[in-house]
Amino acid sequence: MQNLKKLFYSALTCTFLLNLNIPANSTQKEVKVYSGRHYNTDRSVYKQFADETGIKVRLIEAAGISLIERLKREGKNSQADLILLVDAARITNAAKAGLLQRIESNSLENDVPTGLKDKNKEWYALTRRVRVMVANPKVVDVSKIRDYTDLADPSLKGKVCLRNRKSPYNQSLVANQIVNKGESLTKSWLSGMISNVSQPFFPGDISIIRAVSKKKCGVGIVNHYYVARMLAGVNGRRDALYAKRTSVITPNPAHVNISAGGLAKYATNKNEAIKLLEYLASPEGSKGLAAPTFEHPLKEVNQNPIVKDFGEFIPDKVTVEDLGLNNSLAIKLMKDSGWD
Ligand SMILES: [Fe+2]
Repeated sequence: MQNLKKLFYSALTCTFLLNLNIPANSTQKEVKVYSGRHYNTDRSVYKQFADETGIKVRLIEAAGISLIERLKREGKNSQADLILLVDAARITNAAKAGLLQRIESNSLENDVPTGLKDKNKEWYALTRRVRVMVANPKVVDVSKIRDYTDLADPSLKGKVCLRNRKSPYNQSLVANQIVNKGESLTKSWLSGMISNVSQPFFPGDISIIRAVSKKKCGVGIVNHYYVARMLAGVNGRRDALYAKRTSVITPNPAHVNISAGGLAKYATNKNEAIKLLEYLASPEGSKGLAAPTFEHPLKEVNQNPIVKDFGEFIPDKVTVEDLGLNNSLAIKLMKDSGWD
């Protein structure tokens, strides 16, 4: 039998059926995954799971926010069993919106470290990503930039590039600073940093790396794996050359964000969904997701030399729950500071 059994396209989503040696009308077990992780390499992890368990994985991919909107719209009619989202704010908002349900699983409790899981057991982290700074040594003195707060220094006037306020990655970074440093210091940091911005706000992390490389600005904030992917040539030769002209600065301690999964409120294949989530959070599964995307697995550090070259990082003590709790305040402070 073929490995890829069906391929559907619709305006919003594409659905892939994985696995595998299943008769057409069988009552084969399956799990339907709504995923905001849009990495082709995730499919080989699903395939591995399907091969090991005989449970079909039906994958529906869409951007994080539209997945949440879609789940809200579909309500009880939703087909989703397992929901995967990137970013702390997204997964905590999904829980807040009542889209998830509690899971009782010792293996998830053991495999997912404290701070990276929900106390109500509605979601669990699967991979980790570090929010780093990317700088052009020809534009700024890289040795003087160590922490996100340094981007507020008046010497960087006109040299800072940032992704727009809608980006949950930046919302979570600001939430992280609120927890770490308090509201008042976060406000002064934001006001200084935003006054150093001279470009319109950027639509994505990759465009920031390109702008830094082209000396349109001196320093920006991005997730580490975007630089790694570019350096590795995943986005083509030109982006590899752009990335090579930049330096990655890893703050220590660093703000670490996650991708995470939770059981859908109206899951019909509940046991299968929990099994898949347990697999994805296991050392093998987490590594399977994180290694090819240059993210970090839950308990280890990505061993790719490109990622290792960014330097060691010490995650700060802020929990994902804290990031979620401070999301609205973060958005408000960003708005007030002029972060568009
Ligand atoms: Fe991303």
